[in-house]
Amino acid sequence: MDKQNVENLFDNISRRYDVANYFTSLGIERYWRRKFSAHISGSEKYVLDGCCGTGISTLNIVNKIKEKGARVFGVDFSEEMLEVARRRLLKINLKSENKINAEIEFKQGDVSDLNFKDNYFDIISIVFGIRNVINREEALKEFFRVAKPGGKLIIMEFNFPQKSFFRKLYSFYIGRVLVNIGGVITKNKKAYQYLVTTIKNFPPVEEFTSLITSAGWANAKAEKLTLETCTIFSAEKSCNN
Ligand SMILES: C[S@@+](CC[C@H](N)C(=O)[O-])C[C@H]1O[C@@H](n2cnc3c(N)ncnc32)[C@H](O)[C@@H]1O
Repeated sequence: MDKQNVENLFDNISRRYDVANYFTSLGIERYWRRKFSAHISGSEKYVLDGCCGTGISTLNIVNKIKEKGARVFGVDFSEEMLEVARRRLLKINLKSENKINAEIEFKQGDVSDLNFKDNYFDIISIVFGIRNVINREEALKEFFRVAKPGGKLIIMEFNFPQKSFFRKLYSFYIGRVLVNIGGVITKNKKAYQYLVTTIKNFPPVEEFTSLITSAGWANAKAEKLTLETCTIFSAEKSCNN
């Protein structure tokens, strides 16, 4: 698929994406997102959530931010996904008991060509998004450019497990069960066939960790979750940059 097709696909499934995610991951997604938030210290002031989609990942980070005057940007190229994110934020803001410390902006943009200045962000995240990015190397370099020296990169992504027995079982699960549940919920089975293909084609953990390092990031690490079906990658921009 080219960039325009991927954008159209996400526009098309935007309204049912969150519900489909919950059911296709059998609820495990919530546990993964909690593991992800453990990487946010709360002292970050400038935050970028790339491929923010419907804003779940962005608001997950925002909930941890304690720094006054923090600015959080969610960037995605699907305008329809962003609309869902903006509505979600509006609902939260309308409930006065939900105090959000940060100023949040959902912006349309391509993560491989970011419209932000150099050395700006304390943390850059991308949750279940990088495997859908056509030019991943360019995106990792762009994240590096806009991160402050000492800034962090946190990426969470699905993986196709390497161990052969479980690999077959998982292949059956994502190829049959996930495609059908996601397809019924979003009324777009083709979208879920594509999403499963991107999970299968995503590079193995060690290879992707090396790609992060090649983009300039230091201290790249990978934390494998749930029988290697999901990984949290983390890295830092060295203070010498
Ligand atoms: C699977 S969703 C993830 C959404 C969200 N981060 C979450 O945690 O659920 C992937 C998102 O990546 C976006 N995307 C894919 N390639 C992109 C690119 N090059 N630039 C910006 N957004 C992109 C899609 O539009 C989609 O909303």
